[in-house]
Amino acid sequence: MTTAHNQAKKGQIAETILLPGDPLRAKFIAENFLEDVVEFNSVRNMLGYTGKYKGKEVSVMGTGMGMPSMGIYSYELIHFYGVKNLIRVGSCGSYQDDVKIHDIILAQGACTNSNFASQYELPGTFSAIASFELLEKAKKIADDKNYKVRVGNILSSDIFYNDHPEVWKKWADIGVLGVEMEAYALYANAAKAGVNALTILTVSDSLVSQEATTPKERETTFTKMMEIALELA
Ligand code: HPA
Repeated sequence: MTTAHNQAKKGQIAETILLPGDPLRAKFIAENFLEDVVEFNSVRNMLGYTGKYKGKEVSVMGTGMGMPSMGIYSYELIHFYGVKNLIRVGSCGSYQDDVKIHDIILAQGACTNSNFASQYELPGTFSAIASFELLEKAKKIADDKNYKVRVGNILSSDIFYNDHPEVWKKWADIGVLGVEMEAYALYANAAKAGVNALTILTVSDSLVSQEATTPKERETTFTKMMEIALELA
């Protein structure tokens, strides 16, 4: 079975998959963290690989940026390839003074300004939440490794360059920790299908302090986030 976006055959993708936004990150993870790696997708350069981490089979694939792109890839992974545990590993901007560059966030829930959940025709607003099982496990793994993590709410935004550059403060005011652009669609797709999803983020920039990480610095925190994600496999 292949799809318009994924040339993998059924069985080539593991039950647990790590999902960075950047397909080159997927390649980096496969090359640096996995053994016995096989590439299963290169359609649109959305690279995907399956390999082994500490003897367990795990896959990694890019999702692209934004909820439409995440929506397509995660839906296909779940419904056409039988993936059960989808773990986004990404970056985010901080909305809070005490959420610093390099901090790691486990996204317990995701708010959104997107219309993604309108497809379900619910008589209200869908709250997108992480799998408690994955969240609890990830927190324990982080604690055991002595990696400090924040657990809380994030915003999945459709907009990177906002016409109202101060509007993020309204989300900050209601306790949202930071902003990215994919988690809500991942959590909604997983919830609808009854599978597990989690989003792990490292803070790459701050809307509060205007700081941003250098690529070198990003690599170190990225490694910590990856270790947490891979231990979930
Ligand atoms: N906005 C949206 N997505 C992001 C950001 C941001 O500031 N930083 C990393 N991902």
